[in-house]
Amino acid sequence: MISIKSSREIELMRATSKLAAATLEYIEPFVKPGVSTEELNQLCHDYIIKHGAYPSPLNYHGFPKSVCTSLNEVICHGIPSKKDVLKDGDILNIDVTTYLNKFHGDTNKTFLVGNVSDEVKKLVDVTYRCMMAGIEQVKPGGFIGDIGAVIEELAHREGYSVVEDYCGHGIGREFHEDPQVVHVGKRGTGPQMKPGMTFTIEPMINLGTKHCKVLKDGWTVLTKDGKFSAQFEHTILVTDTGYEILTIREEEK
Ligand code: MF3
Ligand code: CO
Ligand code: CO
Repeated sequence: MISIKSSREIELMRATSKLAAATLEYIEPFVKPGVSTEELNQLCHDYIIKHGAYPSPLNYHGFPKSVCTSLNEVICHGIPSKKDVLKDGDILNIDVTTYLNKFHGDTNKTFLVGNVSDEVKKLVDVTYRCMMAGIEQVKPGGFIGDIGAVIEELAHREGYSVVEDYCGHGIGREFHEDPQVVHVGKRGTGPQMKPGMTFTIEPMINLGTKHCKVLKDGWTVLTKDGKFSAQFEHTILVTDTGYEILTIREEEK
């Protein structure tokens, strides 16, 4: 069942999503060589709490930290750690989800750490364009499958693979709601979009194989071949005419 948010609920989605976006803006200057992912986790945690919200990942199905930090070949769900200290040439995805006034807002960004190789910079750039191409498909009457179709097409055109084992999701009173938003597929398939639906689009794009493995910690998802992976995520509202990016940051306007 895909929930349709009322105008009051949409206002609450706007507020929580805005805080999630602001958290990514806040953390950016700290993402530098020498900082640990645990320090970044603590800064995000304190920022979210200070703004009257709760970090949705913390204790979610036992996840031990407040944000996910996914470094280089980690695709998603990386666990912040004192042992993971950023160095020149890394890429780090920070995935922030806030719970404010009973609603979740979910967004992530892949940061470049110092001087990143041209090959990896291009991966990050194409991944952002994949997310935006997916977002541009959002409109009433469109199909959820249209989103994955354009993402897959762009990623493959650039010679990359698309992760299929993890996907976008409806979001609202629950962190993960219907529908599933897969990042591959065929136009005209899946549920039809209606005004008031809110869901994420969060493609994970790999330099090498699309196949994943999960560490023994039960969370950390990495590429099977050890090649780099990038991701971007926004929470999207279907409007009467198209879409609104609820987690948009100033740098994107
Ligand atoms: N924020 C992730 C997503 O985009 C989910 C993280 S679940 C956690 O759906 F438990 F790892 F935090
Ligand atoms: Co998400
Ligand atoms: Co997320």
